[in-house]
Amino acid sequence: MRKLLLIGIGSGDPEHLTVQAIRALNRVDVFFALDKGSGPRDLIRLRQEICERYIERKAYRFVEAPDVARDRGADDYEQAVSDWSDRRADLYERLMRDELGEDDAGGILVWGDPSLYDGSLRVVQQIVERGSLPLEYEVIPGISSVQVLAARHRTTLNRIGRPVQITTGRLLSEGFPTESDDVVVMLDGKAAFQDVPADGVDIFWGAYLGTDDEVLIAGPLSDVAARIVATRAEARASKGWIMDTYLLRRRRPANNEKPE
Ligand SMILES: C[S@@+](CC[C@H](N)C(=O)[O-])C[C@H]1O[C@@H](n2cnc3c(N)ncnc32)[C@H](O)[C@@H]1O
Repeated sequence: MRKLLLIGIGSGDPEHLTVQAIRALNRVDVFFALDKGSGPRDLIRLRQEICERYIERKAYRFVEAPDVARDRGADDYEQAVSDWSDRRADLYERLMRDELGEDDAGGILVWGDPSLYDGSLRVVQQIVERGSLPLEYEVIPGISSVQVLAARHRTTLNRIGRPVQITTGRLLSEGFPTESDDVVVMLDGKAAFQDVPADGVDIFWGAYLGTDDEVLIAGPLSDVAARIVATRAEARASKGWIMDTYLLRRRRPANNEKPE
């Protein structure tokens, strides 16, 4: 039966690959890569570097195909993502049927960890549920940008016995979540930390984590928000793209630590 390996490759540093991920890379006959057209070349280069560095077997190949477009202007965000996922499942199913032999292993290199804000696993599960292409699949975890963020700032994500919430910039714009005082924000194109009341909140921000261009800023939100906004804009203008993640931490009376 055809097999598909979803391999978490970390979020920028080739040295963050796990031993298990390296072993998985070496089992893959065909890597599938969807070209978003506008994707940063640096991230494509990093994937190539990872393969060249860690794959010892010679007989592997890449199959690339243009990614399907997502309707970013749709009013119903979840419906738009679900439609997009269906069309991606069609595309992946066709690629695997055409390009993978019956006993071959395919691979998808997933940025960071496959469990966090990545649609690849959902798409593969859709293909399996349809049942028209018999397929086994495995998920190999990777180091997420969230873990790198915490490590770089030498902090924990949660405080003792407390929850941490992971959310998006879009949701943060609606207000600081009420369920947690520690909130990790991803997929934030608009620096949504500016939309929350800064009083009593610290931020641990990181961009291009794990890469040579990594930038870190931490401090009380009221003190550093403007600097983060300016740094972000400059970095985005000079590199042409940015990926950033941050932890917002509401200070608690009993644990009134400030970042260094
Ligand atoms: C589509 S999600 C993928 C997340 C990924 N699966 C992970 O585990 O990190 C992309 C978001 O992850 C965050 N991200 C990924 N890589 C990053 C990096 N190297 N530095 C900072 N943030 C990163 C950003 O918030 C970005 O908008």
